[in-house]
Amino acid sequence: MQQKHLLNKILQTLIEYTNKKDKQKINYNSLTELENKLDLTKQDNLEDWDQLFVWVEKYLKYSIDTSNPNFVNRMWSGANLPSIIGEIITAFTNTSACTLETAPVATLMERYMIEQMLKIVGFKNGEGQMTTGSSNANMIAMMIARNKALKEVKKQGLFKQKTLFAIVSKDSHYSLDKAANILGIGTLNLIKIPTLKTGQMNTLILEKEIDKIKRQDGILFFVCATLGTTVLGAYDSIIELLKIKQKHNFWLHGDGAWGGSAIMSPYLKDKFLTGIEKLDSFTIDFHKMLGSNLICNFLLINHKKLLLNSCSGGDNSYIFRSEENDLGVSSLQCGRRVDSLKAFLDWKFYQRKGFANRIENYYKLAKFAENFIEQSNELEMITKRVSFNVCFRFKTKDIDPDIFNKKLRNELYTKNGILLCLSYIDKKPLFRLLINNVYTNKEKLIQLFNSIIKTGMSLKLLRINS
Ligand SMILES: Cc1ncc(COP(=O)(O)O)c(C=O)c1O
Repeated sequence: MQQKHLLNKILQTLIEYTNKKDKQKINYNSLTELENKLDLTKQDNLEDWDQLFVWVEKYLKYSIDTSNPNFVNRMWSGANLPSIIGEIITAFTNTSACTLETAPVATLMERYMIEQMLKIVGFKNGEGQMTTGSSNANMIAMMIARNKALKEVKKQGLFKQKTLFAIVSKDSHYSLDKAANILGIGTLNLIKIPTLKTGQMNTLILEKEIDKIKRQDGILFFVCATLGTTVLGAYDSIIELLKIKQKHNFWLHGDGAWGGSAIMSPYLKDKFLTGIEKLDSFTIDFHKMLGSNLICNFLLINHKKLLLNSCSGGDNSYIFRSEENDLGVSSLQCGRRVDSLKAFLDWKFYQRKGFANRIENYYKLAKFAENFIEQSNELEMITKRVSFNVCFRFKTKDIDPDIFNKKLRNELYTKNGILLCLSYIDKKPLFRLLINNVYTNKEKLIQLFNSIIKTGMSLKLLRINS
C-alpha cells in the first residue's frame, strides 16, 4: 500500500472508531472470550495490509476506551488532542531524543519545557529531564542523592560503606521500594513512616527514626515527600520536612506524579505545595492529571550538573558530541523516546492558565462528589477527602462490606460497563474516584453514582433473597 493510501486508511479507521464509540459503556470481555475473539495465533499472508488492518480493527474494537467517563480506574484517561497529534508525529518521524544531531527540534523543545517547569516550580538554578515516568524519576532522584551522599559510590559501589537509609511515608508509591532495590540500598533500609489521619507523613515519628539511624551510625541520605498519595491524595508537609532537613541535611525529593499538577494553579499551589521551591528535586507526570498522552514526565533538580554526574557513564564516544546538547549523556537510557513534542503542543495549546482551570475544576468536582456521597443513604466516604481523591464505598448492614463492594465492582464492570478503581486502606477495599477526565462534569458524576447505587441495591436484594 502506498504511504498516502495508508495514511488515508488510518484516518478513516480512526474516524469510524470515534463515531462508533459507545458513549455509555466501556468494553468488557472475559480473558477467554477475548483470546477467542482476537485469535492471535491466526497465520497471516506475507505483508498483507488488509490483514494488518483487521488486527487494527480488532485492537480498537476490544480495547478499553479510556476517554469514556465510565473509565474511573486510573490516574489518567483519554489524552489531550494536542498531545495525541504530538504522538502521531513522533511515531511518524521516529527518532531518539538522545543526541542533538538526531533530534534537534525535540532537544530544543525538551529544554524549553524544562525551563518552563523550572520557572513554575521555582528552581532558580536547576536542571531537568523527561524520563519514562515518575517511577523512574523517583529512582533517578534517589540515585543522585545517594551519589551526593557518598562521593565515590559511582566508582566503588556500596562496599564497605556505612549503611544508607532512605525515608518515605507508609503511603508512598511502590516505585520507591523498587528504587531501593535497584540502587543497592535494600528495601529494609527504606524506612516507612506512619501517617496522620490526614494521610501526611507523621514528622514526629520521622524525627525519632532519624535519631535511630544516627545511633546506628547510618547515613540518612534521602527523604521523599509524597505530594498527592496514590490512594488518599495526601500531601506531606514540605514546610515541616524542610525544617527537619535543616537539622539533618538530607536530600528532599517531592513525588508529585499525581498531585504535583497542583503547581499549575497558584491557588492550589499555595494550598498544597508551599515551600516546593526549596526541594532538591521534584517529579511531575503530565500524563496523569494534566492529560498528556502516556508517557510524559518531568524530573526537575534544584542543582546543576548532578544529572550528568550521576547518570553518565562508559565510553559513549560513538554517539555523543556534546555534554550540553546531547540530552542522552545525562539520561539512563540510550534510545530516548521523543516525549517533548506532546508536552510542548499541550503546553502551547492550553498554557498554564488552561491547565490551572482544568485542575481547579477537578478539585471542585471532587468536592461535589464528596458532598454527593455524604448526602447519599447508600454510599459512604471511607476517609475525609484531603485533596483530589475521593475514597468511598457502598454501605451495607448485614452483609460483609468487603466482599460486597468487590462483588459490586465486578458487577459494574462486567454488566454495566463501568470500571472503578479498587483500592485498599488498612486492608479495607474501597473505590478510589479520581477525576481526571475533561469530559467528566457534575451530570456525569451523578449518573455514575446513580448507576453504582442502582446496581448496589439490586445486588443487595439478590443477596438478601438468596
Ligand atoms: C504518588 C505516585 N508516585 C509515582 C507513581 C508512578 O508514576 P509512573 O506511572 O509515571 O511511573 C505513581 C503512579 O501511580 C504515583 O501515584
